[in-house]
Amino acid sequence: MKRMTQQAPAKVNLALDILGRRPDGYHDMRMVMQTVSLYDTVTVEETAAGFALHTTGGDFIPAGKKTLEQQAAEAFFAAAGRPAPGLSVTLEKRTPAYAGLGGGSADVAALLRILRDAYCPGLSGAELERIGFAVGSDMPFCVRGGTALAESRGEVLTDLRPLPECWFVLCKPDFGIPTPSLFALVDGGELKHRPDTGGMAAALEAGDLEGVAARLGNVFEEVLPPACHEVFAIKRRLLDLGALNAVMSGSGPTVFGIFRQRRTAEQAAKALKEDYAQTFLAEPVKKF
Ligand code: C5P
Repeated sequence: MKRMTQQAPAKVNLALDILGRRPDGYHDMRMVMQTVSLYDTVTVEETAAGFALHTTGGDFIPAGKKTLEQQAAEAFFAAAGRPAPGLSVTLEKRTPAYAGLGGGSADVAALLRILRDAYCPGLSGAELERIGFAVGSDMPFCVRGGTALAESRGEVLTDLRPLPECWFVLCKPDFGIPTPSLFALVDGGELKHRPDTGGMAAALEAGDLEGVAARLGNVFEEVLPPACHEVFAIKRRLLDLGALNAVMSGSGPTVFGIFRQRRTAEQAAKALKEDYAQTFLAEPVKKF
């Protein structure tokens, strides 16, 4: 194969609801997910042997001994029924890690799309999503991209009508929240406020941006420990700066606001960047 590159867009959760804990320890979810134009770049080259991962830019931290990238590549070649070639994978990072933006999953998903294009173009999207699911619950959506309802652990996807033209301002405060600890807090209590995911899907279908914005919601906000309450201050600032609405993405701590006008969003991003270096302006990205 020749050298191949793909962009790996981050995701935000327009809505995130947790329906309950499952016997396997995971949770049944109902989420409305959206890819956004904050990109890592993934480049793959064939080598004589082995698997090498290089990163430039951001704060990539490999999970465990064998990286998710290597696990996904091995699962891909096993599914494709052919021996794995040597591979060198380079990640150019822009999306912050441990931010609720799916940056790690987005990179693995881009790697899988490259491997499919290079070695097994006949492999269906569903099959590629299934391979991705073996390494992470968010992976099927990241392989697919666009606007989708995600259910079960996150792997049961229903495409939704793309968002009408709008802008996002993403703002990550300088702390991290481990995902499993937030799930544990949800398990320990009763959720009072649930996002209206059905109403959001209907608003998307109607092309009603205000209707979508009015239904942004994330049950993790309800269990955030006081040490993380800066999230609420950022939400207030985004609203003061003209966002239609704002919410935390995934297990946080990144907060994003939705804007109708580019200019308002640009000004909001500029203002927030003075206090939060990891502030980004982005647009919705369509399905691959
Ligand atoms: O699937 P993934 O490894 O990305 O999930 C990270 C962690 O998030 C899991 O270990 C689990 O604690 C939690 N999780 C969950 N239910 C889901 C997805 C993730 O409990 N549907």
